[in-house]
Amino acid sequence: MKMTLKIISLCTATALLSACSEVNQKPTGAGNSASEAAFGTSSLPNSSSSDLPNVSSSSSDLPNSSSSSSNLPNSSSDLPSSSSSSSIPSSSVTLQSSSESSKSSSASSSFSINVSSENENPPDAEENTNVISENITVNSGDEIRIEKDEVLRIDGDIELLGDIYVEGKLIVSENAEISGTGVIHIVNSFDDIDCRGTVSAKIDAPDPIEKDGVTYVGGILVVNKKYSLPKNYGNGFSTQLNAAVSAMRKDSGFSMKIASGFRSYALQESVFAYWCSVDGVETASTYSARPGHSEHQSGLAADITSCSSSYANTPEAKWLAENCYKYGVIIRYPKDKSDITGYIYEPWHIRYLGKSTAKLVHDSGLCLEEFLEIDG
Ligand code: DAL
Ligand code: ZN
Repeated sequence: MKMTLKIISLCTATALLSACSEVNQKPTGAGNSASEAAFGTSSLPNSSSSDLPNVSSSSSDLPNSSSSSSNLPNSSSDLPSSSSSSSIPSSSVTLQSSSESSKSSSASSSFSINVSSENENPPDAEENTNVISENITVNSGDEIRIEKDEVLRIDGDIELLGDIYVEGKLIVSENAEISGTGVIHIVNSFDDIDCRGTVSAKIDAPDPIEKDGVTYVGGILVVNKKYSLPKNYGNGFSTQLNAAVSAMRKDSGFSMKIASGFRSYALQESVFAYWCSVDGVETASTYSARPGHSEHQSGLAADITSCSSSYANTPEAKWLAENCYKYGVIIRYPKDKSDITGYIYEPWHIRYLGKSTAKLVHDSGLCLEEFLEIDG
């Protein structure tokens, strides 16, 4: 049996037993009096796209006619299903504090938890899958390190007061929970977590990296007021997002029209210039991104149905807000986060992250900037 999962105890660990229309319709404010005044319908231009300069013939930018974007990053977070431990013959092994713990000689002590190593894997099981099926506490100062090529599946509840470092794969099963004041550190990619259960412990994202002019945090493409995309970036609407919207339509029964999907740099340039001409640059910047700074250019964002504050009160928008994470998307510019995102509440603008990451962001209650620890 190969058992390489490392639990480093510096103290002790206790096993407890164990072109919307940002294109053709002006977005309206989130409902406070200032934004209602700023975006009141009486001041709205006719929402017909023919009012807009150079954007009325943009149907080719819309999702259903756009090209595949199968090369989009971070698009495969719908991770393969892990096998059920109940059907797996497994043996209980003891993990002891590793030699690294001698750094803290006074506090170092061995401890044990029961970890099932799936050494007789069924055909669909991943190699090197270790399972914690009991409820455990990882004490302050203790670390669980999931090394590259290792898999740790959590089937029980973990009270995390120490740290988990994820370099291999961490699977949080449907009924499992990781809570507590400890931290889960993502070493490389959010794709290394498959969260189907609940994680309320803090997640520490890796530092942003830049590749070909595009910024990623843990494999998640970032575009906001601070981080931009190159002029030539983007080749259409995400097939994953398109599929997510189709699934939401089917399950909810709502029409969820994609009012605006992929928007090229050039199209965003026209859109932003238009709204600046209507409202001035300062106000326009609260609801329209500068060229190169719109998530729509990534292909991973869409405006659903209507860019109006009144959309938030519709049954469709309520369903979307409550359920979209289950389909791998988030409401990107939430209420009460405008100071961080730099944009008004946009209940219509969704961003694809993949099911696991969308669930983590949703459960955290944070906006994407907070979750990824980046500036907005
Ligand atoms: N409305 C969002 C911020 C955009 O223009 O991309
Ligand atoms: Zn949008």
